[in-house]
Amino acid sequence: MSTPTVEILGDVPTLIQRSLALIVEKLQAAIATHGKATIALSGGSTPKPLYEAIAQQNLPWDKIHVFWGDERYVPADHPDSNLNMTQKAWLSKVSILAANVHPMPTSESDPAIAAQKYEQHLRQVLNSPNAVPALDVILLGMGDDGHTASLFPRTEALKVRDRLVAVGNKDGQVRLTFTVPLINQAKDVIFLVAGSSKQNALSQIFSPTADPIDYPAKFIQPQGTLWWLLDEAAGEVLAC
Ligand code: 6PG
Repeated sequence: MSTPTVEILGDVPTLIQRSLALIVEKLQAAIATHGKATIALSGGSTPKPLYEAIAQQNLPWDKIHVFWGDERYVPADHPDSNLNMTQKAWLSKVSILAANVHPMPTSESDPAIAAQKYEQHLRQVLNSPNAVPALDVILLGMGDDGHTASLFPRTEALKVRDRLVAVGNKDGQVRLTFTVPLINQAKDVIFLVAGSSKQNALSQIFSPTADPIDYPAKFIQPQGTLWWLLDEAAGEVLAC
């Protein structure tokens, strides 16, 4: 487990530009190393301008595979869908192969079946039938309550250690989510966090005493490199 790299980057546009540069650097490095790049995306509102900026980049889209670290259990055309947001902001604007876009399935009547199917798909695409696969980049957000992906405080998904994908629950809303072991296997995990409402959770997550069950982003301690990219409004609580 590496010590996190924390960057406090002024306003949101500056945060987005830095995040773009880091992600492009990591995707290009992965392609140079093993011929392709795998990235899992977060949902929510913060990354939308980042996705719009990525869409303007001249990247080898045939070598980039896009996954989601979590998804609301709604149809792909639902306004709450992370896939829907990402398609509109980014994927519909670039010549990425449909076979390189790996949405979480949300049409099974039983979300646990959908989680199993996505796990099987991840293992097949990443050629990792038994071991926990290592994605190149996992982009994460963080909620005001310290959740990340769809790993919400004091929920069952936080405890899952023997699967890659679990069923999440946000106040009764069903989600699919990467589990802690899968996220922690990534080569680079990048948190993108903005806004003063995130300050309390950040101070808890960076404190030695807070329980990760209450602030799930604290469970994220990857094998690879952990980046916290923060705007001033969120990060000032950490500036000492
Ligand atoms: C989701 C996300 C979730 C998000 C945080 C932060 O599906 O909602 O994956 O984990 O990253 O809730 O959301 P904001 O960026 O909107 O603050």
